[in-house]
Amino acid sequence: MEQNELSPEQILRVIFSYAAKIANEKKLDQLLLFMADMGRELILADRCTVWLIDDKNKQLWTKVAHGVEEIRVPLGTGLVGYSIENQEAVIIEDAYEDRRFNPEVDRSTGYITKSVLVIPFESNSGVIMGAYQAVNKKTSSGVFSKKDLEHLTLAASYAGKSLEAAILNREIEETQKEIILTMGEIGESRSKETGFHVKRVAEYSYLLALKYGLSQQDAELLKMVSPMHDIGKVAIPDAILQKPGRLTEEEFAVMMTHSEIGYQLLNNSSRHLLKSAAIVAHEHHEKWNGKGYPNGLKGEEIHIFARITAIADVFDALGSNRVYKPAWELNRIIELFKEERGQHFDPQLVDLFIENTEQFWEIRNAYCDH
Ligand code: C2E
Ligand code: SIN
Ligand code: SIN
Ligand code: SIN
Ligand code: FE
Ligand code: FE
Repeated sequence: MEQNELSPEQILRVIFSYAAKIANEKKLDQLLLFMADMGRELILADRCTVWLIDDKNKQLWTKVAHGVEEIRVPLGTGLVGYSIENQEAVIIEDAYEDRRFNPEVDRSTGYITKSVLVIPFESNSGVIMGAYQAVNKKTSSGVFSKKDLEHLTLAASYAGKSLEAAILNREIEETQKEIILTMGEIGESRSKETGFHVKRVAEYSYLLALKYGLSQQDAELLKMVSPMHDIGKVAIPDAILQKPGRLTEEEFAVMMTHSEIGYQLLNNSSRHLLKSAAIVAHEHHEKWNGKGYPNGLKGEEIHIFARITAIADVFDALGSNRVYKPAWELNRIIELFKEERGQHFDPQLVDLFIENTEQFWEIRNAYCDH
């Protein structure tokens, strides 16, 4: 179906209608689809695709529809590859007349490409991130123009910031998964505790965060970072970490350094996720009454994430066998929390914990070590 070019006013309307959606979108897949739709409407293309560079695998990849797998092609192939490699836009009337065109994708989709417009786009810092590709102009002329190129460039610049944020977001999620995986491996090789300890502390923290009234977003953040609270134990010698009996005063002094070490390990990163993890590692043995370590922080001086993790950690430690002690009965655990209400632990959090003990116990049984 042939269409008429948009007026400048219509073009603005398209951009405005997508601007808010794009600015608020944190999920990379969804953002790529919005950008593709915006490009398609803006320059009357039959199809539009946003390709991103995957440096690690030397590929270009994109998402064309919900529920459909990513499409991946080798970096440097086709018109898109040419455009990125040479950092120049490409406008052609008939793809099959152009040797740079790679008909592979058409062959697998059964679609026939004719006219094509490709523009590379770069990040704020000037690094090429990928390309916008529009295919098959839907006006009577059937070809893309210099004006289309300008409009697509405009669309790309509008979406660029959001795109960088979404890419960073995905990187963080991947980094986080790697860290948790590594943590789990450390846990298995360094201590006798199983990987479920990590999982349980995450779930207890998440549940308590929501009961306390933290936002969904903060609760999810805490769920990711709370299992890292003991990462500083990597630096504690086995003779202490695995000691079957009580620690001497000197040994416990060494053990106590795990809070500071964990903080130093995690605090080097500027990323919010790891900063939050650093705070939790640092403050998870602080006590509400100011008698904890390493800094003797008091009450709300202790970050809420750390106050929550403290309860999750102790609840799990008491409910599990440790090299130095057998698991406690639930009643005895609850007694301890009642005694430590306002001493070791935030009283408000203890109340929430006691009101909802059943839900915590369910998590324990769902991720049981034996
Ligand atoms: P963890 O095993 O993960 O224990 C975390 C926290 O749970 C402890 O922090 C403590 O607040 C609480 N907790 C654990 N077991 C008991 C218990 O039997 N009674 C009471 N009242 N509370 C308990 P804390 O004390 O700062 O210890 C930090 C870490 O030091 C522990 O982590 C563990 O790895 C190690 N640790 C502590 N005490 C001993 C011990 O007697 N022997 C050995 N081998 N390690 C110990
Ligand atoms: C591609 O799908 O790799 C791009 C096709 C082309 O532009 O040649
Ligand atoms: C772990 O090594 O999985 C953490 C151990 C702990 O919290 O005691
Ligand atoms: C944060 O997201 O790091 C702050 C959470 C809080 O203090 O409640
Ligand atoms: Fe600890
Ligand atoms: Fe712990």
